[in-house]
Amino acid sequence: MDKNSASITCFYSLLLISSILFASHFHASEAQAPLVKGLAYNFFAPTCPNLENIVRNHLTKVFKSDNGQAPGLLRIFFHDCFVQGCDGSLLLDGNPGEREQPPNAGMRTEALKTIDDIRALSGGPNFQVPLGRKDGKTFSIKGTNNLPQPFNTTNVTLKTFSAQNFDVTDVVALSGAHTFGRAHCGNTANLDIRTPTVFDNKYYVDLLNKQGLFTSDQDLNIDSRTKGEIRAKCNLVNGAKKSVLTTLVEEGMELIDQF
Ligand code: HEM
Repeated sequence: MDKNSASITCFYSLLLISSILFASHFHASEAQAPLVKGLAYNFFAPTCPNLENIVRNHLTKVFKSDNGQAPGLLRIFFHDCFVQGCDGSLLLDGNPGEREQPPNAGMRTEALKTIDDIRALSGGPNFQVPLGRKDGKTFSIKGTNNLPQPFNTTNVTLKTFSAQNFDVTDVVALSGAHTFGRAHCGNTANLDIRTPTVFDNKYYVDLLNKQGLFTSDQDLNIDSRTKGEIRAKCNLVNGAKKSVLTTLVEEGMELIDQF
């Protein structure tokens, strides 16, 4: 997408980055992040009431044929939001753009295509996301330097997230997103050795057993500030899911507040 067409496709990327896991059945028992002014869970109800169904139906088909698309989309969501807010800037073409920066290596082109196709987990949870964000018309190469790095210790990771107002609990919860998907370390390796295609809390069990893939994962079970939280997550059945998802929603809200 070039910058000039950004406004025309605004509806689509907004839908996308907001719809990955988000076109949702929301369960009343789940915590709901406070709404930021200008956003609404039913933002498109007046203009496109069938929107969530369209996205959900399309994603159901996509995930059935390729269970790697859910982690691909979740990573895109995170990498978009961490750089100047959830504005779809990762989708803008540049020469180079954000997608071409090293922290974005391994971004699944098929997941980017899915975004294009609809302009919405492998049996995983759904959560509701407030809609109405306006797409960015600019991107930030410099901002991609703020993305976390896999070779970092927890000390550095905590600083990286703290700069975006995330605390220790947020970092442990968000890192749980590595419960599925893969990485390119020479060969392709699964992020969660136990259940690589399921969104569950086995990532934390991996860490307890020294089987985390990256230093940024495994060190969470060494650093005294995060170690205890890892143990607690291993004892949860659905708690890890909820914690990651709630934090993701809050991430969007907090970042949108800043821009
Ligand atoms: C400590 C911070 C983090 C670091 C250092 C990190 C780093 C990485 C790296 C290096 C990869 C492999 C990319 C590749 O080689 O293809 C990856 C994959 C992934 N990351 Fe993270 N990440 C972090 C936090 C997060 C967060 C907060 C989320 C989402 C909420 C997330 C979601 C994912 C997903 C779903 C994948 C798999 C993508 C796929 O299968 O295509 N990560 N991450």
